[in-house]
Amino acid sequence: MTAKIIDGNAVARHVRSEWKKRVEALKAKRVTPGLAVIIVGDNPASRVYVRNKVKACAEVGLHSEVHEFAADVAPDILIRRIRELNQNPAIHGVLVQLPLPAHLEPRRLLGEISVEKDVDGFHLYNVGGLVVGENNVFPPCTPYGVQRILEYENIPIEGQNVVVVGASNIVGKPMALMLMAKDATVSICHIKTRDLAQYTILADILIVAAGCPGLITAPMVKRGAVVIDVGINRLPDGRLAGDVDFESVRKKASHITPVPGGVGPMTVTMLICNTVAAAERSAAKNAESRNPVPA
Ligand code: GUN
Repeated sequence: MTAKIIDGNAVARHVRSEWKKRVEALKAKRVTPGLAVIIVGDNPASRVYVRNKVKACAEVGLHSEVHEFAADVAPDILIRRIRELNQNPAIHGVLVQLPLPAHLEPRRLLGEISVEKDVDGFHLYNVGGLVVGENNVFPPCTPYGVQRILEYENIPIEGQNVVVVGASNIVGKPMALMLMAKDATVSICHIKTRDLAQYTILADILIVAAGCPGLITAPMVKRGAVVIDVGINRLPDGRLAGDVDFESVRKKASHITPVPGGVGPMTVTMLICNTVAAAERSAAKNAESRNPVPA
């Protein structure tokens, strides 16, 4: 068996073209979805991610703005800016690019973002919504992108054994919750899991987000499994690689995502979707306040 290589760029193009229609519908009502990105310091990877977010916004017709701060910025300055953006009617999504310099507490800053504008889905309200299966919260973009890939490829989730390797707040934990909500049987493994292979070998769908190049090798994968590689690692020779040993695992899996060109393009695409959804909700709320339902 040789796996189907999932083209994340093609899925992203498809999703963006669907959402572009929704942007056009909003624009017809004189609403342009707007995203504000706060970036602190000069982490090179964060700069690349932010540039990609701005580019994707322009492609789909969203307004975006980047708010840059020096690495030693005081927390109060950032909090004041977040509060201004919360009040700004031209901005529907606000995100703080992570990681932050050590003197800043991410939880404190993320907690300042208005729940309705939290398009990263990192505010505790949105996290809690995901835990209880509330369906109007913003799902975090990377697991949302993985879910969309599975849907696009018609991969069934209900009753499947899903193993998630990596238990981060950004990917592993929300991924597990989202697939539990779709009635998968989910196991979460992480860097301290003993004998990782005894779990991964059972997976019908294996999702790896551990930040460890080459962690998953062919003997750890069930024949015919769907393998989704969320890892993005820079190798010493400058190449990008995922967490999965692509060349060996592709001979055993039924589907596999490459790195680059797999999950990566979906993360930024789902950020666009969340921002457009935030703008739609805001427009609906404004219309309702202009025309209240009679008592
Ligand atoms: N850093 C790495 N991934 C992300 C993400 O999805 N959102 C934000 N804000 N920062 C990140």
